[in-house]
Order: sequence, then structure tokens, then C-alpha cells
Amino acid sequence: MDFMIVRTKGLKKYYRLGNNIVKALDGVDFAVKEREFVSIIGKSGSGKSTLLHMLGALDTPTAGEVYVDGRRLSDMNREQLAVFRRRRVGFIFQNYNLVPDLNVYENVVLPIELDGKRVDKKFVHGILELLKIEEKMEALPGMLSGGQQQRVAIARAVAARPSIILADEPTGNLDSASGHDVMGLLKVAAKQFQQTVILITHDNDIAQMADRIVHIEDGKIVGDGGGAALKKAGDGYAGE
Ligand SMILES: Nc1ncnc2c1ncn2[C@@H]1O[C@H](COP(=O)(O)OP(=O)(O)O)[C@@H](O)[C@H]1O
Ligand SMILES: [Mg+2]
Repeated sequence: MDFMIVRTKGLKKYYRLGNNIVKALDGVDFAVKEREFVSIIGKSGSGKSTLLHMLGALDTPTAGEVYVDGRRLSDMNREQLAVFRRRRVGFIFQNYNLVPDLNVYENVVLPIELDGKRVDKKFVHGILELLKIEEKMEALPGMLSGGQQQRVAIARAVAARPSIILADEPTGNLDSASGHDVMGLLKVAAKQFQQTVILITHDNDIAQMADRIVHIEDGKIVGDGGGAALKKAGDGYAGE
């Protein structure tokens, strides 16, 4: 049996806006296998970011449950959730979120240092090399292109060795060529370090690069399946 590293049950997130209720998530049940690369696709406002925030314990649901690694997030206290976010999950955002006055290397190792861990320099260099950014190690983020900045953000997410990477429109600010480039490198890195990736996008081409595509509409999952695993049967994660 495949181990489901992430699972949601009846997940809901409602926001009150004046007299109206916005149902950002309206009963989401889905599961992700360990080491799977899943993209979640949907239009703007369909609830993608809200879902990602619930999975990463950045926000709490109105109803329903999130299980990660067999643990129920609602059973964890504030401190346990902080540790969960720091150790188990790596976030990648559309706007890279790099610290502007730290250089590339310093940005990448920052979460490891904040966690009080020793930095394995060789390991970090290997990641920078894998992501083709090692020559920019001493550059400040402002000197880099968007694609390069996002590769730094990927390196940072990967370097702390979380089991799960959550990416919110990581190619949203990139042109099509560097978007594909970034996706390819994220796939390679995640595979190399055996990480599970959940990536949200509104771009169908980008979504197609995943093992599996989940469609979300008005806070509900309306389709689940397809992606690279189907396109090249026998060559995806499915048989591993
Ligand atoms: N903090 C909030 N307060 C009120 N409404 C919100 C809040 N966050 C998101 N929403 C609403 O929830 C819906 C889903 O938002 P979101 O998850 O950001 O969608 P997506 O990422 O797919 O564009 C939208 O209608 C949005 O306006
Ligand atoms: Mg969003």
C-alpha cells in the first residue's frame, strides 16, 4: 500500500465578508502519496492558496481535518505547529520571498540556521549546483533574474530537507521558458531528495508536468488524475 503523506477530510474554510460568507474551501477530500508530485489547478479565487495554507498549517480550517505523516494538525498545539512548519514543510511562493540584503548562499541556509542546526556546506553546494545557481552564490537577490531568484527559493526549500514542499504559483511571475526550466529543476530536486511536492498553478502547461493533476473549482475538487504519469505510463512515480 502506498503511504499517504498528506490527507484532508471534509476540509472547509469559510470567510465572513460583511453579511456574506465566502466558501473558499467547501469540503475538500484528497490525498497525496509519499514522493508524489501533484499540481492543483484552478482559476483565480477557486481556493488554491487557501488549501495550501491549510496543508502547511499557515491557517486553520473552519471544519474538517488535515493529516500529515499520519498526524492530525488539529491535535498539535501552537509550538508543535511551529516545529511542523519549520521542519516538515518547505514553502515556495510566487514572489520568491528572499531576504534582499542576504546573498544567495545566506538565503538558502537561513532556515537551517534559524532552526539551530549545523549547515552541511557540501550538501548545500550540491543543491546550488543541481539548481544551476552555484555561480551566483555570493550575489544579492536583486542582481538575479526572476527565474534565478525562484531557483534560489527552491534551493532554500529543499536544503532544509522537509518531506513536503508546498509551492504557490511558483512560476507565476516567470515567462514560459523560465517557468518550465524552474519546474524541471524542482522536479529533479524533489526526486533526488525524495520529497513530496504539492504545487498550485492556474497554468495548464505547468500543471501537466506533474504526476497528477487535481482540479479545484469554487472550493471543491472537481477532477483528480492525469498529468505526466498518465502521459508516459510506466515512467512515472506510479510504479515505484
Ligand atoms: N482572508 C480572507 N478573507 C476573506 N476572503 C478571503 C480571504 N482569503 C481568501 N479569500 C477568498 O477566498 C476565495 C479563495 O481565495 P484563494 O484561496 O486565495 O484563491 P486562489 O489562490 O485560487 O486564487 C476567494 O474568493 C478569496 O477572495
Ligand atoms: Mg492564490
